[in-house]
Amino acid sequence: MSALEKAYYSPVGRKVASKAGLHEPPRLRRGREWPQGRIVLAPLGASSLVADALALLGREHDAPVVDSGTDAPGYGDRIGALVVDALDVAAVTDLEALRAVLRPAARAVERAGRIVVVARPGGAGGGWEADAVARALDGINRTVGKELRGGATATLVYAHEGVAAADLVSTLGFVLQGRSAFVDGQAWHVRPAAVTADRLDEHPLDGRVCVVTGAARGIGAAIARTLAREGAAVLAVDIPAAGEALAAVANEIGGTALQLDITADDAGARIAAHVAARGARIHAMVHNAGITRDKMLVNTDADRWASVLDVNLAAEMRINAVLLDPAVEGGMADGGRIVGIASTSGLAGNKGQTNYAASKAGVAGLVAAMAPDLAHRRITVNAVAPGFIETEMTARIPFVQREVFRRVNSLSQGGQPVDVAETIAYLCEPASQGVTGQVIRVCGQNMVGA
Ligand SMILES: NC(=O)c1ccc[n+]([C@@H]2O[C@H](COP(=O)([O-])OP(=O)(O)OC[C@H]3O[C@@H](n4cnc5c(N)ncnc54)[C@H](O)[C@@H]3O)[C@@H](O)[C@H]2O)c1
Repeated sequence: MSALEKAYYSPVGRKVASKAGLHEPPRLRRGREWPQGRIVLAPLGASSLVADALALLGREHDAPVVDSGTDAPGYGDRIGALVVDALDVAAVTDLEALRAVLRPAARAVERAGRIVVVARPGGAGGGWEADAVARALDGINRTVGKELRGGATATLVYAHEGVAAADLVSTLGFVLQGRSAFVDGQAWHVRPAAVTADRLDEHPLDGRVCVVTGAARGIGAAIARTLAREGAAVLAVDIPAAGEALAAVANEIGGTALQLDITADDAGARIAAHVAARGARIHAMVHNAGITRDKMLVNTDADRWASVLDVNLAAEMRINAVLLDPAVEGGMADGGRIVGIASTSGLAGNKGQTNYAASKAGVAGLVAAMAPDLAHRRITVNAVAPGFIETEMTARIPFVQREVFRRVNSLSQGGQPVDVAETIAYLCEPASQGVTGQVIRVCGQNMVGA
């Protein structure tokens, strides 16, 4: 810690910072905790899909009592969460009903509470107005996320035509629980997936092999721990130089370790061989390993360019190609999960990171391209895009800049590695079958523009 940093974190420093408007950030609720207080359902039309999904969530996962919404829009006391069934909202005039339920909720929602809107994505022959309204909902959601205080968040779930209640359960469970602590102002899509109720169990990854690259530290170690908590048999991968830390993570979670540079030509084959030796196939391949070699473009030479693109993007593609070959023993199982790690600075662009932005935006492009092609094997392909997360990678950023990065989001703080890990674990759940081709930002609604 630098002298400046020490002074900033001293009691006097905190007081000065608070006077300057840098208040203590709100405490977030993490893990499998439900919101404090009732989860209130507000149906805006005849649809009962969200009510059915919440009923399943209550039955399978002991979600706190779900109100029928009869007391909306007044609410009376404070509430833990508001879930709006806006599936019948298709006209501009329908948005008034949404405003009417959101307005009191914005005041009534508890600290670290949730506002969740489930709506149609448009584009299904509903006409231009329905498409415009679907985007209007995104604008509303992003704004509500910025206005909510005390660590409360807003989420919009686009449920496609044909989605059944069970298809929504893992998404609503993730969004309402503390697992989504640092996911704010986000919208993503759920498609019909014929999820059956027996897939909604508590340890959804029991015995399934999940591979995590870059697992020796930081976000990768948190992903390995979180997937293990969900019951997975984790194969933790990292470079030989990180062998000791890698072994420690693998031992701690009862997983196995593989020392491997993912840019090696035989990286995919070595991962598959390791899994095949245990008589298994891969349920989830999490491509977390990544590097930065920051320089302004005018100073970016071919080496910095090549190394970042190779580790962050090309290696992932080479490994996928091997593991997706059905003939390869120890490759991806049908119904499996591929998860990449993008970055908000990649998606929005960031000074000094042309190479990194190329690689991370490339990951988002890869996900969109692969998802439809692998749907016939029920393999989902998604990415998470972390914002500012407290790790060794970000600890290298100079202090003042680091403190600014921490603050420029709706939750006024940096995220924890576990926040990224929880989002990945949600995507890896068998019950998340309907979520594919998505990039979910884990950034506390970062204002960099992503
Ligand atoms: N920390 C953040 O704020 C942040 C933000 C956005 C995205 N990300 C992304 O999240 C991922 C993890 O980031 P982190 O902050 O934990 O980074 P980190 O530097 O702390 O950890 C990265 C791990 O990847 C490993 N690794 C690097 N090159 C490798 C290779 N060729 N083969 C195998 N392993 C390799 C490293 O040894 C290290 O253990 C990266 O993809 C990063 O780009 C991080």
